[in-house]
Amino acid sequence: MKRMALCMLALVLLLSGCSGRQEPESSSLIVGFAQLGSESGWRVGNTEDIRRAAEEAGVQLILKNADQKQENQIKALRSFISLQVDVIAFSPIVEDGWDNVLTEAKQAGIPVLLTDRKINVEDENLFAGFVGSDFLEEGRDAGRFLLQKMAGKQDVRIVEIAGTIGSTPAGERADGFREIIAEQPGWQVVHSVSGDFLRSKGKECMSNILDEVQDIDVMFSHNDAMTLGAIEAIEQAGLNPGKDIVIITVDGEQGAIDLLMQGKINCVVECTPLIGDLIMQLSKKLAAGEAIPRITHSSERVFSEYDENLEHLPARGY
Ligand code: AHR
Repeated sequence: MKRMALCMLALVLLLSGCSGRQEPESSSLIVGFAQLGSESGWRVGNTEDIRRAAEEAGVQLILKNADQKQENQIKALRSFISLQVDVIAFSPIVEDGWDNVLTEAKQAGIPVLLTDRKINVEDENLFAGFVGSDFLEEGRDAGRFLLQKMAGKQDVRIVEIAGTIGSTPAGERADGFREIIAEQPGWQVVHSVSGDFLRSKGKECMSNILDEVQDIDVMFSHNDAMTLGAIEAIEQAGLNPGKDIVIITVDGEQGAIDLLMQGKINCVVECTPLIGDLIMQLSKKLAAGEAIPRITHSSERVFSEYDENLEHLPARGY
């Protein structure tokens, strides 16, 4: 595949009489990217950003979408190995279960870049590095907002709608949040359930929680998609999100920022999907045999009801 691409490039140069001109080095770089699915606006924005960045960087991108199934992602990785791509990048749906396929990539001499989520493997050298958000810090940011919002309150009852079980953002956001609220002995996560990062499940989970759990002060949801669903359930139950229940969410999709401005969400912790340029820069280094940092974090912020001028924020783009 790569050889065919290179032959095509040589032919184009020959026919256009440009044989003396140097093409940018990256034009022959092939990156296989295995996306985990399309579960949220965040994920769709991430896929689009990676496509855009590849095009702008002159990288040939082979993109496969695993539709939320780890076995599909593993199949995609195996197909990239047999195509002998220069770099494999992927956003692992869960942390466990990657040792075998990544050993195959290593044996084929193909460097692997983790994007967005991390993995647990016995041999840490099975991947070159990670690029994406600091999920632990996002959870801490959610907790810090609550310390400010509920300052002076002795007892606070929190429900949590968590992301996909076994995924990095679900684990680290939960840990970071608990680390901060542990400072307040009377504050408790009274109920936690996974909504799999899906809007439909966010609505279903919140509707069940409202039936089962009394006196909810706060909802901490691990992503905007689930939050938007949960808000529908809260309104259907005749309650006012943002007032009767404090709402904290993660991502920063346009829809969530709009609800923050309407007072239905109190805090949005940003998690940016716009990491396409970083992925291309790191892929070029890996293909050139250069070392990359083990961890590259994207820069992020928090939006909350305490911010002024939210209406002047540029469109989020996802
Ligand atoms: O891994 C990032 C998370 O995955 C985002 O918070 C969420 O929206 C997506 O599904």
